Amino acid sequence: MYILSFESSCDETACAVCEMCDGKREIKSNIIASQVDIHALYGGVVPEIASRAHIEAISRITYEALDVAGVTLKDIDMIAVTNGPGLIGALLVAVNFAKSLAFANNIPLVPVDHIKGHVAANYLTHTELEPPFLALVVSGGHTSFFDVKSYTELEEIASTRDDAAGECFDKIGRVMGLPYPGGHAMDILASKGNKKAITFPSPAIKDSLDFSFSGLKTAVINYINTKRQKNEELAVEDIAASFTDTVVEAVRSKVGDALKRTGYNKMVMAGGVSANSHLRAGVTEECKKFGAKFYAPTLNLCGDNAAMIGAQGYYEYLKGERADESLNAYPS
Ligand code: KG4
Ligand code: ZN
Repeated sequence: MYILSFESSCDETACAVCEMCDGKREIKSNIIASQVDIHALYGGVVPEIASRAHIEAISRITYEALDVAGVTLKDIDMIAVTNGPGLIGALLVAVNFAKSLAFANNIPLVPVDHIKGHVAANYLTHTELEPPFLALVVSGGHTSFFDVKSYTELEEIASTRDDAAGECFDKIGRVMGLPYPGGHAMDILASKGNKKAITFPSPAIKDSLDFSFSGLKTAVINYINTKRQKNEELAVEDIAASFTDTVVEAVRSKVGDALKRTGYNKMVMAGGVSANSHLRAGVTEECKKFGAKFYAPTLNLCGDNAAMIGAQGYYEYLKGERADESLNAYPS
């Protein structure tokens, strides 16, 4: 079946067409209108500006997604849309747009949870992947382990108790003067530094699978500010490498514990931070130690996109999920 899908939970307006059926998971088009340049002026996402930018982009990218896929609305069998979690004003743009399209054209509408969507990016990259497995979603808003029992049933077994990993990358990146959002630039910088140069506090919470990133974030920012106050040289590469290594080691230790606890031999990583080359390498090694197979999306499917929403929407549709005109968005 052909699925038209929408995503507008944060600062990317996205529309995709996927062809999904038994034995086929194919992206026909995957269009993203990024607002990064707009929010870079403020060093973070401004919700009101995000909503307005979504409204301006959504119609244009829908035409583009259909055109690139070589289909029209008549070919679409189902519409999937992210209805949470995210910024409420931002979410409502795609939810209302998808509702209008679905009911005007008599096409079934399926709501999709954004986090489940991130996990589903892996179904598009690894067409043989099937639940059950262990998943770690690491993004700008979330850092959680899930027991993925089936395509539609995800149980959160641990999470961050404060900041998300991506938030930590972005806030430290901002203090270091890296381009917004800081994650990608930090990844490149970390490759050039000594990862054992500076010791920072681990975000791994003892005797639990949970994380706490706020202490690490504050420690790195304090380290930078102290150096600046003393007019000492900032070894930015070493800071990036040591901070990244602290995150990677913490995640590795929890991945090992989570694999032991769940007994799974498949481990899936997803979300914007799963694009991090050091994290991918570290978790790959950790999985090898436990005899588990490691999966992560291709880099273009790690961040927010609509193809992942289409993929998850397909499995929600098979389960019988349908929305009517009362469909609303939920922020958390
Ligand atoms: O999944 P995503 O696009 O949006 C949310 O749902 O939050 O994730 C965005 C986050 C940002 O914090 C960004 O800095 C981070 O993913 N990110 C990275 C990398 N690429 C993107 N973090 C670390 N290393 C990267 N290579
Ligand atoms: Zn996301």
